[in-house]
Parts: sequence; C-alpha cells; structure tokens
Amino acid sequence: MRIDVVSIFPEYLAPLELSLIGKARQDGLLQLNVHDLRSFTTDRHRTVDDTPYGGGAGMVMKPEPWAKALEEIVGARAGEGGAAKPILIVPSPAGERFTQSIAHELAEEEQLVFACGRYEGIDERVIEWASEHFTVRPMSLGDYVLNGGEVAVLAMVEAIGRLLPGVVGNPESLVEESHSDGLLEYPVYTKPSSWREREVPAVLLSGNHGKIAQWRRHEQFRRTAERRPDLLADFDASTLTRADREVFAELGYDVVDGRLERRVLDGDA
Ligand code: ADE
Repeated sequence: MRIDVVSIFPEYLAPLELSLIGKARQDGLLQLNVHDLRSFTTDRHRTVDDTPYGGGAGMVMKPEPWAKALEEIVGARAGEGGAAKPILIVPSPAGERFTQSIAHELAEEEQLVFACGRYEGIDERVIEWASEHFTVRPMSLGDYVLNGGEVAVLAMVEAIGRLLPGVVGNPESLVEESHSDGLLEYPVYTKPSSWREREVPAVLLSGNHGKIAQWRRHEQFRRTAERRPDLLADFDASTLTRADREVFAELGYDVVDGRLERRVLDGDA
C-alpha cells in the first residue's frame, strides 16, 4: 500500500517511523510519503491560510497550495495506467465516524491520501475539486475537536496499517480483538496466577478450552453491555446459544426477532 500525507507539520508524523508501522515501511509492505504543504506555496511567507469569507473567528486554509500538493500526488501516478481513483481522507470532526470496519475496507486500497487540515479547516472548494481526482472521504475519529488532522492520521494509519498482510506477526491476534465481531474484547491475564491477593479467574487455569471460550464470550457480552451498550443495537443475536441468552437476560436484554432489546425496568423513565 502507498500512503501520502499532506500537512504543515510533517514532523508530527514522525511516530510512523516507529514500531510495527515503521517496520512495515522498512520491509516494503507500506510506502509512506509525508509532504509539507508549505512547499506548495509561492509567496515569500509560505502562506497557507487567510481570513474566512463571511467573517468569524480563526483562519481558513487557502485552496491553491492544496490543489498543487494533491496534483503532484496524483501526477506521480500518471502512467500507472487504469488505476482507480485513490481515496482522499480528510480528517475532520465533521466527517463520517472512523471505525474498525472502515479500517478493514481502507486496508484493501492500493493508495490512500490524507489531507491534514488546521485552523478552521480547508476551503470547501478544494473538497469539491478534489472529487474529480479522488474519492473524497471526510473522516472523524470521534465527537471531540483536535487542533488538526495529524493526530487523527496517526491513529488511522496505525489502525489501517496493522491490517496489511505481514504487518502484525501473528495474524490470529487480529481475530479476537475489540470491534472485530461488534463486541469489546474480553479481559486478559498473565502470570503470576495470584498477585497481590487477586486471583486469575479459575476457568482460565482449567485447561477446558470449550469452557474458556464460553467464559470469554460471556465477558465480552458483559463488558459491552456495561461500557458500550450502543454497540449491542447492531449485534446479530440470532445465533446466540441458550447459555448466551441467559447471560444477556441477566444483563437486562431479551432477544426479539434476532436482535437484542433492552428490557424496560421498573423505575426507568
Ligand atoms: N480534526 C479535528 N478534530 C478531529 C476529529 N475529531 N477527528 C478527525 N479529525 C479531526
């Protein structure tokens, strides 16, 4: 996979030289290029922003440096022949929510381009113009506001990059992790089995693999119900076993038409 990132703070992306993603780059599994937006300016001050039309606080990123940077990136592909439009991800709190399933989808792409906005954002005409050359996807990490797109890009590149074949040493570790099946991951323990008067759950020491798998699954149900009940609305409950349904019943959920439904308790408004 090839990834291009455009930013006015290229140094912000330095952590992508470390750890698994850094190794993937060294191994040639991921080709990652960081471009400085200011090198696409033409004035002495290397200006990338200006005041907003219509007034208001803050500054807006000027369109021309963005167009030049993005043209250079698509231009680098000219002659590659027949390649699909690359995806241009524009991190923004006003974007679509980035999820594990989108990470999987994007990990299938040949090329991703990330445009890191700062200040109040990028002139909207860049987004319209870019859709001639790219499939544009404004993407949000969550419902909070960062100072710019760089931190979001670090998170998205790591989430996507670790799904590329060969990046994570043991691919099985990608299977049983939070969000891989619409649930949060079960709790994990290691040696010693007794630590500061706290014991590892006995079932994990039993050697009974069926029981361990069931306990882990039920812990996923409990955790998800407690911490992220919103995830349960999309959970396919049609294949739950009787024991699974009993756990959900204890947690206050019934299975209705293959979906989990929260029981209305006395005292609920
Ligand atoms: N830029 C600023 N806030 C952001 C967010 N929540 N997600 C992605 N990019 C952002």
